[in-house]
Amino acid sequence: MKTKAAQQAAILFQSVRDYYGTQESLECYSDRARRVGLLPPERAMVKRFMRPPARVLDVGCGAGREALALARMGFTVTGVDITPALLEEARRIAVDRALSIDFRLADGTTLEFSDGGFDYVLLITQMIHHVPGKANRVRLLREAGRVARAEGRILLTYHDWDIEKDHAEWGWTGGHHCREPGPGESPETCRPLEPGDYFTRDCQGTLTGVFGFAHHFARGEIESEVVEAGLRIVARSGFETIAGGEPDDFWKPTQILALAASSTPPDNEDAEPNAPGDADKPHR
Ligand SMILES: C[S@@+](CC[C@H](N)C(=O)[O-])C[C@H]1O[C@@H](n2cnc3c(N)ncnc32)[C@H](O)[C@@H]1O
Repeated sequence: MKTKAAQQAAILFQSVRDYYGTQESLECYSDRARRVGLLPPERAMVKRFMRPPARVLDVGCGAGREALALARMGFTVTGVDITPALLEEARRIAVDRALSIDFRLADGTTLEFSDGGFDYVLLITQMIHHVPGKANRVRLLREAGRVARAEGRILLTYHDWDIEKDHAEWGWTGGHHCREPGPGESPETCRPLEPGDYFTRDCQGTLTGVFGFAHHFARGEIESEVVEAGLRIVARSGFETIAGGEPDDFWKPTQILALAASSTPPDNEDAEPNAPGDADKPHR
């Protein structure tokens, strides 16, 4: 039998799928996949950490924005997502562009791929914020480590709490958010599971009819989940800073962690990171 926390996590997980399945989300992510492609800091991240040809698993691929761009760059890409409507759009765009990409409906916390099949596993576009509950996020990270080959890399992007809490655009006030249920809505979908959980209807500036779920990490929280999943941080960088120049307000809180299995020996390319939060200070 499921514990109360597991039941609540399942409800929140479904709210993520519902939110990303709205028409507003579909239009937004389809447009980004068709017209925007990789953002400049994402291009810099790929240049720094990835070399084609290689096998890439993109977890939370949405309508295929980064998967399509990576396929064009010579990577062999598999994209997984929990939102069927976004995956259907991703498949349509890949056909339109004559790109061969394996898009599959799958939850990143329970992957069906065999061990060690990918050179790179991407947990980017801040998808980890939408995984409810520490146990599920550790499972996501552990699965990424399992399906990456021994010397492979897992790239993770997330928003840093300490930077983000000053970030007016999110309307973040600290502590945890619990909202009132709307008409006909179950109060269960509005209840946080952990401190830092919050709910929003904002999808890239457009209001959706459904509240999505997200978790904001406290200082050191993501690092401890990485360690618990048996991974280690080999490099860390601010998202905009990696592309050079001052980060703008929107992307300022985004951090990139390059992860490896904790048993992987350090290599010459990547240096060990500094203490948590020391983004973009020179690496040792
Ligand atoms: C911020 S959107 C990014 C979509 C796409 N990567 C982009 O940038 O256009 C996050 C995506 O993660 C997906 N997602 C959330 N939780 C997931 C999970 N547990 N497993 C797989 N995908 C998940 C959502 O359905 C959504 O498509």
